[in-house]
Amino acid sequence: MPQPPPHAPPATIVPQPKRSGIHLRVNGKPYLHAGDPQMPLLWWLRDYLQLTGTKYACGIGACGACTVLVDGKAEHACLLPMQTLAGRSITTVEGLADADGTFSALQQAWVDEDAVQCGYCQAGQLVAAHALLQKHPQPGEAELDALPNLCRCGAYPRMRRAIVRAAAARKAGKP
Ligand code: FES
Ligand code: FES
Repeated sequence: MPQPPPHAPPATIVPQPKRSGIHLRVNGKPYLHAGDPQMPLLWWLRDYLQLTGTKYACGIGACGACTVLVDGKAEHACLLPMQTLAGRSITTVEGLADADGTFSALQQAWVDEDAVQCGYCQAGQLVAAHALLQKHPQPGEAELDALPNLCRCGAYPRMRRAIVRAAAARKAGKP
């Protein structure tokens, strides 16, 4: 009796069970989290997706270093269990630039104003500033004062100038 070739598929293909877990999108791409549903989003982004721009600092929702967008709203990734994120769309600092890596008006303003000092808080600052500009395209002093993110280096004046510069650039048509 002829033998099947060595790489032939098995005669019977057993259907695999549909993988269950938490489906969500990160920076426009679909993902499935099949692990611990209590895992904080921050751990998952950094340890599983290697998106290490988002930083761990206080871990209690007080500093903003871990700020990401959840369906466009600024949230603290250190406080968000994965089980709360089914079907949600996450944007991290890595998702603020265009697909080809071109900086957004905000990122370019950050560079032009030399806003960064040590850098540790900066991913969260950029994401929070992005959310602010989505809500208030021309933010005034009150909106800038209300930004909650902390910066141990005290780079606030430069970051404020960068946000104002980005607002002007966006008004002039830059994305
Ligand atoms: S690390 Fe999340 S708010 Fe500080
Ligand atoms: S730039 Fe150093 S903590 Fe903000």
